[in-house]
Amino acid sequence: EGVVLGVGGASTTLAGITVRLPVASALDLGTGSGIQALHAAQHATRVTATDLNPRALRFTRLTLALSGAPEADLREGSLFEPVGDETYDLIVSNPPFVISPGARLTYRDGGMGGDDLCRSLVQEAGERLNEGGYAHFLANWQHVEGEEWQDRLRSWVPRDCDAWIVQREVQDITQYAELWLRDAGDHRTDSAEYAARYDAWLDEFEARGTRAVGFGWITLRKTAAAEPSVTVEEWPHPVEQPLGDTVREFFERQEYLRAHDDAALLAAHFKLADEVVQEQVGLPGAEDPEHVVLRQNRGMRRATKVDTVGAGFAGVCDGSLSAGRILDAIAQLVGEDPVLLRDRTPAQIRLLVEQGFLLPASE
Ligand SMILES: C[S@@+](CC[C@H](N)C(=O)[O-])C[C@H]1O[C@@H](n2cnc3c(N)ncnc32)[C@H](O)[C@@H]1O
Repeated sequence: EGVVLGVGGASTTLAGITVRLPVASALDLGTGSGIQALHAAQHATRVTATDLNPRALRFTRLTLALSGAPEADLREGSLFEPVGDETYDLIVSNPPFVISPGARLTYRDGGMGGDDLCRSLVQEAGERLNEGGYAHFLANWQHVEGEEWQDRLRSWVPRDCDAWIVQREVQDITQYAELWLRDAGDHRTDSAEYAARYDAWLDEFEARGTRAVGFGWITLRKTAAAEPSVTVEEWPHPVEQPLGDTVREFFERQEYLRAHDDAALLAAHFKLADEVVQEQVGLPGAEDPEHVVLRQNRGMRRATKVDTVGAGFAGVCDGSLSAGRILDAIAQLVGEDPVLLRDRTPAQIRLLVEQGFLLPASE
């Protein structure tokens, strides 16, 4: 199977979530026709591109040449084998992540069982990153009977890396097998061959205890922090691509939160992010809403439930008063004990900062 895939939706998604900082070195693992390498060439001095398929490397050379990009260091081989113990400031990979029985298509199935290929890639990326460097992957992962999918992904994250993992979609195993059989051109769903392939696929899932398959984004950032932060979340809603800056800012805020305990948070100043609106849900005419939602119109387009203190707090954040001073004012307004309020609110502030509703303001 020498097929080299063109640029698809997945390629564009990965290019969109990639942090685009000027760097010295970048690695595109499983380069295919070279689309990620071409993007990396815009902001990396040296680009290395690998693929198991030698034809892909010839495509990549052509892609770069046609676009007038500098030549890349092209290496044939599997996973990290062609780069040995070299390290990079940026690693990107849209790997052959499809979980399927047997390895039929090189561009799609890595030839490893289940989600082992994605797991190895993520696990082995840590030691190939320079400090502060990012690694971005698209991946599929199994939802296995008796295991939380979040725990499975946490176990993939290498030491010395912060991680942000976003599950974008989940499909049950029948949908999944149908999708990828169709994708590979097996349209004749009434044929005996189709039925056999379909059954083999479901048998394989059965044998692995797999109930569903998750698809999403995995970003690592190499850190020297004693306690790296690992966030695994589900966000299936529309987002605003390109998200590269949003991804970078997410990791920067994680670093900020790590460096600020609750007392430091209360002494700090925050600004409400741009284009955040408040939505209230409740009975028409009722004085108090049943719940309040803050919604971001940019980036991840997040929405989060807040209580009235949280909403009031966010509304006042223009960077001029410290968080503690704002809480004291709210306490007075609602007749609550300011000490108790200072005690219970930092957790909520932390969440609003983590999700990008509140941004640390320079004091
Ligand atoms: C889904 S394509 C991605 C192509 C391109 N990077 C993009 O983003 O559109 C996956 C690529 O990984 C290559 N590949 C498959 N198994 C591999 C392995 N074990 N090591 C490295 N590359 C592999 C395939 O040949 C294919 O070009």
